[in-house]
Amino acid sequence: MEPFERPELYEFHGVSMTHYFTDNWENVQNFKALPDDILIATYPKAGTTWMSYILDLLHFEQEVKDRENSLPIFDRVPFLELTIPNYCTGVEALDTLPTRPRLIKTHLPIQFVPKSFWENNCRVVYVARNAKDNAVSYFHFDRMNMVQPEPKDWNSFLPRFMEGKMVFGSWYDHVTGWWDKKQNYSNLLYMFYEDMVQDTGRELERLCSFLGLSTTAEERECIRGGVQFDAMKANPMANYSTDPVMDQKISPFMRKGKVGDWKNHFTVAQNETFDKHYKKRMKNSTLEFHTEI
Ligand code: A3P
Repeated sequence: MEPFERPELYEFHGVSMTHYFTDNWENVQNFKALPDDILIATYPKAGTTWMSYILDLLHFEQEVKDRENSLPIFDRVPFLELTIPNYCTGVEALDTLPTRPRLIKTHLPIQFVPKSFWENNCRVVYVARNAKDNAVSYFHFDRMNMVQPEPKDWNSFLPRFMEGKMVFGSWYDHVTGWWDKKQNYSNLLYMFYEDMVQDTGRELERLCSFLGLSTTAEERECIRGGVQFDAMKANPMANYSTDPVMDQKISPFMRKGKVGDWKNHFTVAQNETFDKHYKKRMKNSTLEFHTEI
């Protein structure tokens, strides 16, 4: 593997970030969204790749020959703010993307989103995942991703997650910030990872109706099959096996894909402390999550 450098977290306009996502800041902020762009926004590990793959199949499966077999998901859906030395930046990848509409991935908290998305009234799909599973998934991701800060052990990771000392900041601020945006921006569809696990077909229908895509039940069923966890895990275009920054011997990118895996990680005491803190942090929000299904 190439020797990538694990970064330090630092405070950036009040949010914990690493330089890999702030080095290209001016170009990110000045990014020129197009009216038909579709932004896929998430806190890291909430189901970004799953949503990206679904949207890609919905838009391009039939039209773009060989895309299915030759182009990894991270090239089909560029990551807006990503800037890794010696690699093309997210902005450059988007500027040269040949297909329309552009599907764009971001983990930016709401206040950092380039204003051209709002000016162009772009469609946005936000995916949120319950905090406990999100934290567990993030922990394993930081273990295997060489451009993420060292996670250390789970017992020290969890309090840092609760304090928002994670790349892209606080889970609480992220999910509530985007939830609040939805109240006055009608082109935002707010989806939940748990709903997608529970009934992928139903959520596919919601997506199609939001995006104004007319698909047959047969087409949706075909896509539903292709985006199931096991299918994506076995698919080199979806499982990140070609991404040089990940060491999948440490932990696979497509790890478990479950709701409720937090129960295998949280001690009883950690769960009590977490619940108390969660209640306080979320008391002003109408946002509700399922931690099991
Ligand atoms: P786990 O680590 O809990 O397994 P992101 O794409 O935002 O990085 O999110 C990754 C998480 O989404 C991982 O969670 C991954 O397994 C899960 N995931 C990806 N594709 C999925 C699918 N088709 N069904 C269920 N979960 C999926």
